[in-house]
Amino acid sequence: MRNKPIAGLPGTTDRRIDALLTLLAENSTIVISGAKVAKEIGVSRQQVWRWIQKLRALGVRVQGHPRTGYHIERVPDVLVPQMLGSRLHGTPFARRIHHFFKIDSTNSVAMRLGESGEPHGAIVVAEEQTAGRGRAGRKWASEKSAGIYCSVLLRPPIPPAHAPLLTLLAGLAAYDAAAEDLDMHADIRWPNDLLVGGRKFCGILTEMRAEPDRVHYAVVGIGMNVNQARMPDQLADTATSLRIQTGKPHSRLKLLIRLLRHLDRYYNQFLSDGAAPILRRFAEVSSYFKGKRVHITTATESFTGATAGLEPSGVLRVARDDGRGIVSVLSGDVTEAS
Ligand code: BTN
Repeated sequence: MRNKPIAGLPGTTDRRIDALLTLLAENSTIVISGAKVAKEIGVSRQQVWRWIQKLRALGVRVQGHPRTGYHIERVPDVLVPQMLGSRLHGTPFARRIHHFFKIDSTNSVAMRLGESGEPHGAIVVAEEQTAGRGRAGRKWASEKSAGIYCSVLLRPPIPPAHAPLLTLLAGLAAYDAAAEDLDMHADIRWPNDLLVGGRKFCGILTEMRAEPDRVHYAVVGIGMNVNQARMPDQLADTATSLRIQTGKPHSRLKLLIRLLRHLDRYYNQFLSDGAAPILRRFAEVSSYFKGKRVHITTATESFTGATAGLEPSGVLRVARDDGRGIVSVLSGDVTEAS
Protein backbone atom coordinates (compact mmCIF):
# COMPACT_ATOMS: atom_id res chain seq x y z
CA MET A 1 0.00 0.00 0.00
CA ARG A 2 1.47 3.35 -1.05
CA ASN A 3 0.66 6.71 0.40
CA LYS A 4 0.53 9.42 -2.20
CA PRO A 5 2.39 12.51 -1.05
CA ILE A 6 0.10 15.53 -1.25
CA ALA A 7 1.05 18.83 -2.73
CA GLY A 8 1.75 21.68 -0.30
CA LEU A 9 3.00 19.53 2.56
CA PRO A 10 6.72 20.26 2.72
CA GLY A 11 9.04 18.28 4.94
CA THR A 12 7.34 14.88 4.83
CA THR A 13 9.72 11.97 4.91
CA ASP A 14 11.04 10.94 1.49
CA ARG A 15 9.17 7.77 0.52
CA ARG A 16 12.45 6.20 -0.53
CA ILE A 17 13.79 6.40 3.06
CA ASP A 18 10.62 4.64 4.08
CA ALA A 19 11.28 2.02 1.35
CA LEU A 20 14.90 1.65 2.50
CA LEU A 21 13.86 1.01 6.08
CA THR A 22 11.19 -1.47 5.04
CA LEU A 23 13.63 -3.30 2.75
CA LEU A 24 16.17 -3.65 5.56
CA ALA A 25 13.52 -4.67 8.09
CA GLU A 26 12.08 -7.32 5.75
CA ASN A 27 15.58 -8.74 5.17
CA SER A 28 16.70 -8.52 8.77
CA THR A 29 18.24 -12.02 8.76
CA ILE A 30 20.65 -11.35 5.86
CA VAL A 31 23.31 -8.86 4.79
CA ILE A 32 21.98 -7.00 1.77
CA SER A 33 24.50 -5.36 -0.56
CA GLY A 34 24.64 -1.58 -0.97
CA ALA A 35 24.28 -2.02 -4.74
CA LYS A 36 21.12 -4.11 -4.34
CA VAL A 37 19.58 -1.64 -1.89
CA ALA A 38 20.40 1.26 -4.24
CA LYS A 39 18.86 -0.56 -7.23
CA GLU A 40 15.71 -1.60 -5.38
CA ILE A 41 14.87 1.87 -4.18
CA GLY A 42 16.20 3.74 -7.22
CA VAL A 43 18.93 5.97 -5.75
CA SER A 44 22.75 6.02 -5.75
CA ARG A 45 24.81 4.03 -3.25
CA GLN A 46 26.06 7.33 -1.80
CA GLN A 47 22.48 8.40 -1.14
CA VAL A 48 21.74 5.08 0.55
CA TRP A 49 24.80 5.66 2.78
CA ARG A 50 23.61 9.18 3.70
CA TRP A 51 20.16 7.89 4.60
CA ILE A 52 21.63 5.04 6.63
CA GLN A 53 23.52 7.65 8.67
CA LYS A 54 20.28 9.55 9.20
CA LEU A 55 18.52 6.41 10.39
CA ARG A 56 21.41 5.62 12.74
CA ALA A 57 21.00 9.08 14.25
CA LEU A 58 17.42 8.08 15.07
CA GLY A 59 18.65 5.02 16.92
CA VAL A 60 18.10 2.46 14.12
CA ARG A 61 20.81 -0.19 14.56
CA VAL A 62 22.12 -0.72 11.00
CA GLN A 63 25.40 -2.58 10.64
CA GLY A 64 27.75 -2.49 7.65
CA HIS A 65 28.75 -0.04 4.92
CA PRO A 66 28.33 0.39 1.13
CA ARG A 67 31.04 -2.17 0.18
CA THR A 68 30.04 -5.07 2.41
CA GLY A 69 26.32 -4.44 2.56
CA TYR A 70 23.85 -3.62 5.31
CA HIS A 71 22.15 -5.56 8.02
CA ILE A 72 19.54 -4.40 10.48
CA GLU A 73 19.66 -5.88 13.97
CA ARG A 74 15.98 -5.85 14.76
CA VAL A 75 12.75 -4.34 13.44
CA PRO A 76 13.42 -0.60 13.75
CA ASP A 77 11.19 1.49 15.97
CA VAL A 78 10.54 4.25 13.44
CA LEU A 79 6.94 5.17 12.65
CA VAL A 80 7.27 5.45 8.87
CA PRO A 81 4.21 4.91 6.63
CA GLN A 82 5.10 1.49 5.19
CA MET A 83 5.85 0.00 8.60
CA LEU A 84 2.62 1.39 10.04
CA GLY A 85 0.33 1.09 7.03
CA SER A 86 0.97 -2.61 6.44
CA ARG A 87 -0.11 -3.29 10.05
CA LEU A 88 -3.25 -1.14 9.98
CA HIS A 89 -5.19 -2.95 7.26
CA GLY A 90 -8.94 -2.76 7.73
CA THR A 91 -8.80 0.61 9.50
CA PRO A 92 -9.19 4.04 7.88
CA PHE A 93 -5.72 4.93 9.19
CA ALA A 94 -3.77 2.75 6.74
CA ARG A 95 -4.29 4.90 3.69
CA ARG A 96 -2.94 8.38 4.37
CA ILE A 97 0.02 8.43 6.71
CA HIS A 98 2.14 11.59 6.71
CA HIS A 99 5.47 11.08 8.45
CA PHE A 100 7.99 13.73 9.48
CA PHE A 101 11.39 13.29 11.07
CA LYS A 102 10.95 16.76 12.58
CA ILE A 103 7.96 19.11 12.55
CA ASP A 104 6.62 21.93 14.72
CA SER A 105 3.38 20.19 15.72
CA THR A 106 1.55 17.23 14.18
CA ASN A 107 -1.75 18.84 15.25
CA SER A 108 -0.92 21.99 13.28
CA VAL A 109 -0.18 19.92 10.17
CA ALA A 110 -3.35 17.84 10.61
CA MET A 111 -5.46 21.00 11.00
CA ARG A 112 -4.05 22.30 7.71
CA LEU A 113 -4.81 18.94 6.09
CA GLY A 114 -8.35 19.12 7.45
CA GLU A 115 -8.75 22.54 5.87
CA SER A 116 -7.42 21.33 2.51
CA GLY A 117 -9.92 18.47 2.25
CA GLU A 118 -7.75 15.54 3.33
CA PRO A 119 -10.04 12.52 3.97
CA HIS A 120 -11.21 11.03 7.26
CA GLY A 121 -8.57 8.77 8.80
CA ALA A 122 -5.45 10.60 7.65
CA ILE A 123 -2.74 10.57 10.28
CA VAL A 124 0.31 12.73 10.89
CA VAL A 125 3.22 11.21 12.78
CA ALA A 126 6.54 12.74 13.79
CA GLU A 127 9.73 11.46 15.35
CA GLU A 128 10.26 14.85 16.97
CA GLN A 129 8.21 18.03 17.48
CA THR A 130 9.81 21.43 17.94
CA ALA A 131 6.59 23.14 19.11
CA GLY A 132 4.41 20.31 20.43
CA ARG A 133 1.23 21.76 21.92
CA GLY A 134 -0.64 20.68 25.04
CA ARG A 135 -3.98 21.72 26.49
CA ALA A 136 -4.52 25.25 27.81
CA GLY A 137 -1.66 26.67 25.72
CA ARG A 138 0.97 24.50 27.39
CA LYS A 139 3.94 22.97 25.59
CA TRP A 140 4.30 19.24 25.01
CA ALA A 141 7.90 18.06 25.42
CA SER A 142 8.62 15.94 22.33
CA GLU A 143 12.09 14.41 22.52
CA LYS A 144 13.36 12.80 19.32
CA SER A 145 12.34 9.15 18.80
CA ALA A 146 11.35 8.78 22.46
CA GLY A 147 7.59 9.29 22.36
CA ILE A 148 4.56 8.91 20.14
CA TYR A 149 3.50 12.20 18.55
CA CYS A 150 0.50 11.48 16.36
CA SER A 151 -2.54 13.40 15.15
CA VAL A 152 -5.60 11.77 13.63
CA LEU A 153 -7.93 13.61 11.30
CA LEU A 154 -11.57 12.62 11.78
CA ARG A 155 -14.68 13.76 9.94
CA PRO A 156 -17.35 12.53 12.36
CA PRO A 157 -21.04 12.99 11.52
CA ILE A 158 -21.76 14.58 14.92
CA PRO A 159 -22.59 18.02 16.33
CA PRO A 160 -19.77 19.85 18.14
CA ALA A 161 -21.51 19.31 21.50
CA HIS A 162 -20.60 15.61 21.19
CA ALA A 163 -16.93 16.26 20.38
CA PRO A 164 -15.72 15.78 24.01
CA LEU A 165 -16.62 12.13 23.49
CA LEU A 166 -13.97 11.90 20.77
CA THR A 167 -11.40 12.98 23.33
CA LEU A 168 -12.70 10.45 25.84
CA LEU A 169 -12.62 7.59 23.37
CA ALA A 170 -9.11 8.48 22.23
CA GLY A 171 -8.03 8.40 25.89
CA LEU A 172 -9.59 4.96 26.28
CA ALA A 173 -7.79 3.75 23.13
CA ALA A 174 -4.46 5.00 24.49
CA TYR A 175 -5.24 3.43 27.87
CA ASP A 176 -5.96 0.01 26.33
CA ALA A 177 -2.83 0.21 24.14
CA ALA A 178 -0.56 1.08 27.07
CA ALA A 179 -2.15 -1.35 29.53
CA GLU A 180 -0.60 -4.30 27.64
CA ASP A 181 2.89 -2.91 28.31
CA LEU A 182 2.32 -2.12 31.98
CA ASP A 183 2.30 -4.56 34.86
CA MET A 184 0.81 -1.90 37.11
CA HIS A 185 -2.55 -0.18 37.10
CA ALA A 186 -2.93 2.95 34.95
CA ASP A 187 -5.61 5.59 35.47
CA ILE A 188 -7.40 8.23 33.39
CA ARG A 189 -7.78 11.66 34.90
CA TRP A 190 -10.76 13.31 33.24
CA PRO A 191 -10.87 14.13 30.47
CA ASN A 192 -7.88 12.29 29.09
CA ASP A 193 -4.66 12.43 31.06
CA LEU A 194 -3.24 8.95 31.36
CA LEU A 195 -1.45 8.40 34.65
CA VAL A 196 0.72 5.68 36.02
CA GLY A 197 2.18 5.79 39.52
CA GLY A 198 0.36 9.13 39.91
CA ARG A 199 2.31 10.74 37.04
CA LYS A 200 1.14 11.61 33.56
CA PHE A 201 2.54 9.69 30.58
CA CYS A 202 -0.01 10.51 27.87
CA GLY A 203 -2.16 13.48 26.94
CA ILE A 204 -4.64 14.28 24.19
CA LEU A 205 -5.36 17.58 22.49
CA THR A 206 -8.52 17.71 20.37
CA GLU A 207 -9.03 20.65 18.04
CA MET A 208 -11.75 21.09 15.45
CA ARG A 209 -13.52 23.25 12.97
CA ALA A 210 -17.26 23.18 13.31
CA GLU A 211 -20.56 24.94 12.69
CA PRO A 212 -23.19 25.02 15.46
CA ASP A 213 -24.77 21.79 14.21
CA ARG A 214 -21.92 19.84 12.64
CA VAL A 215 -18.23 19.15 12.95
CA HIS A 216 -16.32 19.75 9.71
CA TYR A 217 -13.28 17.95 11.00
CA ALA A 218 -11.64 17.16 14.30
CA VAL A 219 -7.97 16.55 14.96
CA VAL A 220 -7.18 14.27 17.87
CA GLY A 221 -3.53 14.70 18.84
CA ILE A 222 -1.99 12.05 21.05
CA GLY A 223 1.29 12.44 22.86
CA MET A 224 2.63 9.44 24.75
CA ASN A 225 5.90 9.35 26.68
CA VAL A 226 7.32 5.93 25.83
CA ASN A 227 11.11 5.61 25.90
CA GLN A 228 12.27 8.80 27.62
CA ALA A 229 15.01 7.71 30.04
CA ARG A 230 14.25 10.77 32.18
CA MET A 231 11.80 13.63 31.95
CA PRO A 232 12.90 17.28 31.75
CA ASP A 233 13.59 18.64 35.27
CA GLN A 234 10.55 20.92 35.38
CA LEU A 235 8.25 17.94 34.58
CA ALA A 236 9.95 15.25 36.63
CA ASP A 237 7.50 15.49 39.56
CA THR A 238 4.37 15.28 37.45
CA ALA A 239 5.30 13.38 34.28
CA THR A 240 6.77 9.99 33.48
CA SER A 241 7.32 7.56 30.60
CA LEU A 242 6.54 3.89 30.16
CA ARG A 243 10.26 3.18 30.23
CA ILE A 244 10.79 5.04 33.51
CA GLN A 245 7.87 3.17 35.06
CA THR A 246 8.76 -0.30 33.85
CA GLY A 247 12.56 -0.06 33.65
CA LYS A 248 12.67 -1.26 30.03
CA PRO A 249 12.18 0.17 26.52
CA HIS A 250 8.92 -0.35 24.61
CA SER A 251 8.11 -0.57 20.91
CA ARG A 252 6.51 2.71 19.82
CA LEU A 253 5.48 0.99 16.60
CA LYS A 254 3.51 -1.75 18.40
CA LEU A 255 1.98 0.75 20.82
CA LEU A 256 0.83 3.09 18.07
CA ILE A 257 -0.63 0.25 16.01
CA ARG A 258 -2.57 -1.02 19.03
CA LEU A 259 -3.68 2.51 19.88
CA LEU A 260 -5.01 3.18 16.37
CA ARG A 261 -6.78 -0.19 16.24
CA HIS A 262 -8.48 0.49 19.58
CA LEU A 263 -9.35 4.00 18.37
CA ASP A 264 -10.98 2.53 15.27
CA ARG A 265 -12.98 0.12 17.44
CA TYR A 266 -14.17 2.77 19.94
CA TYR A 267 -14.96 5.24 17.18
CA ASN A 268 -17.13 2.73 15.28
CA GLN A 269 -18.84 1.71 18.52
CA PHE A 270 -19.55 5.37 19.27
CA LEU A 271 -21.08 5.95 15.82
CA SER A 272 -23.23 2.81 16.00
CA ASP A 273 -24.23 2.70 19.71
CA GLY A 274 -23.75 6.27 20.91
CA ALA A 275 -22.01 7.49 24.04
CA ALA A 276 -23.19 4.84 26.54
CA PRO A 277 -20.47 2.19 25.94
CA ILE A 278 -17.77 4.88 26.03
CA LEU A 279 -19.05 6.24 29.34
CA ARG A 280 -19.34 2.71 30.79
CA ARG A 281 -15.75 1.93 29.83
CA PHE A 282 -14.56 5.24 31.30
CA ALA A 283 -16.34 4.37 34.56
CA GLU A 284 -14.53 1.00 34.58
CA VAL A 285 -11.01 2.32 34.15
CA SER A 286 -10.96 5.83 35.66
CA SER A 287 -10.81 6.44 39.40
CA TYR A 288 -11.91 9.99 38.57
CA PHE A 289 -15.36 8.88 37.45
CA LYS A 290 -17.14 9.00 40.77
CA GLY A 291 -16.32 9.91 44.37
CA LYS A 292 -12.84 11.27 43.70
CA ARG A 293 -11.81 14.31 45.72
CA VAL A 294 -10.71 16.88 43.14
CA HIS A 295 -9.58 20.44 42.79
CA ILE A 296 -10.96 22.11 39.65
CA THR A 297 -9.52 25.18 37.95
CA THR A 298 -11.56 26.63 35.09
CA ALA A 299 -11.03 29.86 33.15
CA THR A 300 -13.15 31.72 35.70
CA GLU A 301 -12.86 29.98 39.09
CA SER A 302 -11.30 27.31 41.30
CA PHE A 303 -13.11 24.99 43.70
CA THR A 304 -12.89 21.59 45.35
CA GLY A 305 -15.43 18.81 45.46
CA ALA A 306 -16.08 15.17 44.66
CA THR A 307 -16.65 13.80 41.17
CA ALA A 308 -20.20 12.59 40.47
CA GLY A 309 -20.06 10.79 37.12
CA LEU A 310 -20.20 12.07 33.55
CA GLU A 311 -23.05 13.59 31.59
CA PRO A 312 -24.03 11.84 28.34
CA SER A 313 -21.95 14.42 26.46
CA GLY A 314 -18.83 13.41 28.42
CA VAL A 315 -18.82 16.50 30.64
CA LEU A 316 -17.67 15.91 34.27
CA ARG A 317 -20.11 16.38 37.18
CA VAL A 318 -18.66 17.61 40.46
CA ALA A 319 -20.43 17.97 43.83
CA ARG A 320 -18.93 21.17 45.21
CA ASP A 321 -17.69 21.39 48.80
CA ASP A 322 -19.05 24.92 49.16
CA GLY A 323 -22.65 23.75 49.11
CA ARG A 324 -23.42 25.05 45.62
CA GLY A 325 -24.59 21.62 44.49
CA ILE A 326 -23.50 19.50 41.54
CA VAL A 327 -22.00 21.44 38.65
CA SER A 328 -20.93 20.46 35.15
CA VAL A 329 -17.30 21.05 34.24
CA LEU A 330 -16.92 21.49 30.50
CA SER A 331 -13.19 22.04 30.53
CA GLY A 332 -10.52 22.89 33.02
CA ASP A 333 -7.67 21.45 35.01
CA VAL A 334 -8.47 18.61 37.36
CA THR A 335 -6.09 17.61 40.14
CA GLU A 336 -6.54 15.19 42.99
CA ALA A 337 -7.43 17.01 46.23
CA SER A 338 -6.26 15.75 49.58
C1 BTN B 1 -2.14 17.61 26.99
O1 BTN B 1 -1.90 18.77 27.36
O2 BTN B 1 -2.28 16.71 27.81
C2 BTN B 1 -2.28 17.30 25.52
C3 BTN B 1 -0.97 16.91 24.90
C4 BTN B 1 -1.10 16.57 23.43
C5 BTN B 1 0.24 16.37 22.77
C6 BTN B 1 0.11 15.83 21.38
S1 BTN B 1 1.66 15.30 20.72
C7 BTN B 1 0.92 15.09 19.16
C8 BTN B 1 -0.03 16.25 18.96
N1 BTN B 1 0.67 17.40 18.42
C9 BTN B 1 0.70 18.42 19.27
O3 BTN B 1 1.25 19.52 19.07
N2 BTN B 1 0.06 18.09 20.40
C10 BTN B 1 -0.48 16.76 20.34
